[in-house]
Amino acid sequence: MLHIDSAPSTPGKVKMEKSSYFFTRGGGARWHYSLAKLTVWSFAFLALILIFFLRSPAPSTITSAADPSRRSLRNYNWGGSAWEKRVRASARARSSNGLTVLVTGAAGFVGTHVSSALKRRGDGVLGIDNFNDYYDPSLKRARQALLERTGVFIVEGDINDEALLRKLFEVVPFTHVMHLAAQAGVRYAMENPGSYVHSNIAGFVNLLEVCKSVNPQPAIVWASSSSVYGLNTKVPFSEKDRTDQPASLYAATKKAGEEIAHTYNHIYGLSLTGLRFFTVYGPWGRPDMAYFFFTKDILKGKQIAIFEAANHGTVARDFTYIDDIVKGCLGALDTAEKSTGSGGKKRGPAQLRVFNLGNTSPVPVSELVSILERLLKVKAKRNIMKLPRNGDVQYTHANISYAQRELGYKPTTDLQSGLKKFVRWYLNYYSDGKKAVE
Ligand SMILES: NC(=O)c1ccc[n+]([C@@H]2O[C@H](COP(=O)([O-])OP(=O)(O)OC[C@H]3O[C@@H](n4cnc5c(N)ncnc54)[C@H](O)[C@@H]3O)[C@@H](O)[C@H]2O)c1
Ligand SMILES: *[C@@H]1O[C@H](CO)[C@@H](O)[C@H](O)[C@H]1NC(C)=O
Repeated sequence: MLHIDSAPSTPGKVKMEKSSYFFTRGGGARWHYSLAKLTVWSFAFLALILIFFLRSPAPSTITSAADPSRRSLRNYNWGGSAWEKRVRASARARSSNGLTVLVTGAAGFVGTHVSSALKRRGDGVLGIDNFNDYYDPSLKRARQALLERTGVFIVEGDINDEALLRKLFEVVPFTHVMHLAAQAGVRYAMENPGSYVHSNIAGFVNLLEVCKSVNPQPAIVWASSSSVYGLNTKVPFSEKDRTDQPASLYAATKKAGEEIAHTYNHIYGLSLTGLRFFTVYGPWGRPDMAYFFFTKDILKGKQIAIFEAANHGTVARDFTYIDDIVKGCLGALDTAEKSTGSGGKKRGPAQLRVFNLGNTSPVPVSELVSILERLLKVKAKRNIMKLPRNGDVQYTHANISYAQRELGYKPTTDLQSGLKKFVRWYLNYYSDGKKAVE
């Protein structure tokens, strides 16, 4: 159902080794050798390099989506003065009191919208994304092209790459980090658990390690998820409710992120704000989400699976429109206090917050399908199935009064109007035959 197996691998994924790597070691000791010996050694060295390249696995194995540990071995092409110039230009704020924001996962659904909103209002924005092939990377490339036109540069790299992150902070003293890079999706965790650990835990820790050690430390706003409420049945979900019963590995890694955030706030004085998004949808959305692949399958006349809980219980989601989420993200950035540490040491207590960002109006999935039928003018072939117990919860509903009070967050788009905008984008984007899905 996730349609990810057939996703093509990212074009241009395998880049040349960073050549500077070979020249950073060794000193004057070599000069003891005679010129002849040096020549012999040079040839031996070249031969070794040649053997190494001839014996390396084919690119398709290197980028295998099924093996996340290999992903981290990929080399990206970054560095150099032209590259630094692009980084600086992208991160330059238009106004003197504008923010300077590093957006991780900038080629993602939420990352693209947040980056362009920040840039539009005059803030400096630099993106980073590894363009992985969890879903069709050509959609990520199209979002990148969109951002390029608004002046936002996305650095191609992994948040686990410490040298790259340090370099970025060396080039630009970011005041804020909007951390949206993650392995998303609930059911995919059974197929590729390592990718969740890689991006949501190891990657987050690496990012925080760099943030805590730079001067000045940035304030960090990051995406948690409504899935942390797991098997919680008390509705609506409030920030004070229990979150210790995750129903998926995805949820468990987001919950772990909240605890890790607490630690870095406590030890290093990092200002940290977690945002629990509730089922975000809209134009440029994610193909692995139900509203998106329902649209695709309804148009193709393919049967769609609609889940119901035990005893015909309704499965419902608090669908939240992307523009509302963006306003919540900007509100969180604007109200984030400065981190208090310096030199990798805490100097005083720093801000630590967690907010729900939802719509406060859960809609049954069957109703979502009815709205899509009306907008697409096509009848769906519904296949009612029992909700499997492999990650999805039956119901989500956000209490947003805390975000309303602190961030001025107030969602204004109902599912019908939001889906109308999504469908208009979808038909337009995929009308071009070249971009056809599968
Ligand atoms: N969309 C939702 O409904 C929803 C709900 C709850 C939480 N969230 C969270 O919001 C954030 C954004 O979600 P989205 O819907 O835009 O997802 P997305 O998959 O479209 O965006 C995530 C981006 O991060 C990139 N990425 C992943 N791992 C990376 C790594 N190790 N290094 C660099 N880049 C990496 C991906 O290539 C992708 O472009 C995620 O943290 C997600 O877990 C989303
Ligand atoms: C929503 O959360 C607030 C705390 O932020 C709480 O005071 C209020 O009672 C909650 N509302 C409901 C309906 O649970």
